[in-house]
Amino acid sequence: MGGLVKDGVLIAPSILGCDQGMLASESRKLQEAGADMIHLDVMDGVFVPVLTVGPAVSEAVCSAVDIPVDAHLMVSIPGNQLQDFARSGCRYITVHAEVDVHLDRLLGRIRDLGCLAGLAFNPATPLDTLKWVSRAVDLVLIMTVNPGYGGQKHMAHLHGKVNEARKILDNNGGSGALLSVDGGVDSENASSLIDAGADVLVAGSFITRSNDPARAMDMLRGRHHRHTS
Ligand code: DX5
Ligand code: ZN
Repeated sequence: MGGLVKDGVLIAPSILGCDQGMLASESRKLQEAGADMIHLDVMDGVFVPVLTVGPAVSEAVCSAVDIPVDAHLMVSIPGNQLQDFARSGCRYITVHAEVDVHLDRLLGRIRDLGCLAGLAFNPATPLDTLKWVSRAVDLVLIMTVNPGYGGQKHMAHLHGKVNEARKILDNNGGSGALLSVDGGVDSENASSLIDAGADVLVAGSFITRSNDPARAMDMLRGRHHRHTS
């Protein structure tokens, strides 16, 4: 199963802030507005305080779009969930580096299920393990907020960490993994994240609170619409 190809920065809207009763149609609208990927935030009420959606909703979202869906599993025991999320149609399944002492095996299981394997790092988590699993990952997700809620303030001091991840991936045989950033991404910090080496920008509130999501995504890409009035 192929991953996304890097051709300019890719935009992955998070649907956490969308109408939760309409996630399938909201995702379709985001695809039509130019999204490259849908970012589905899965929270278990333990790893983070909030509860969100499970594999049934993931299946509805995956069926509604043609672009890849990344299930960002903010859950304490992701191993229990992999099969159901794989069956739901996700292209990427992203697990957190903090939750499992057998990361290499966990990532391998995601690929064995026919999906692409993502690995997320909380703001305080060092990237030491990345070097040793870089060949087992297809996507690295650097959190620039503490996960749990949309609409939080972006932690700009972590741009150096994004660049560190870029170097680790490039130095380890150009693993081909996508480098993604998640948390408080907006038009103010996007270009600095791209300069630091990000391939994918995940953005929730900046896109879904905008009255023109297509324009918001273009702003993140650095394409500015000309004002005509
Ligand atoms: C944070 C989630 C993010 C978040 C993105 O817990 O993993 O995906 O919803 O939303 P914004 O862009 O509003 O921070
Ligand atoms: Zn997320």
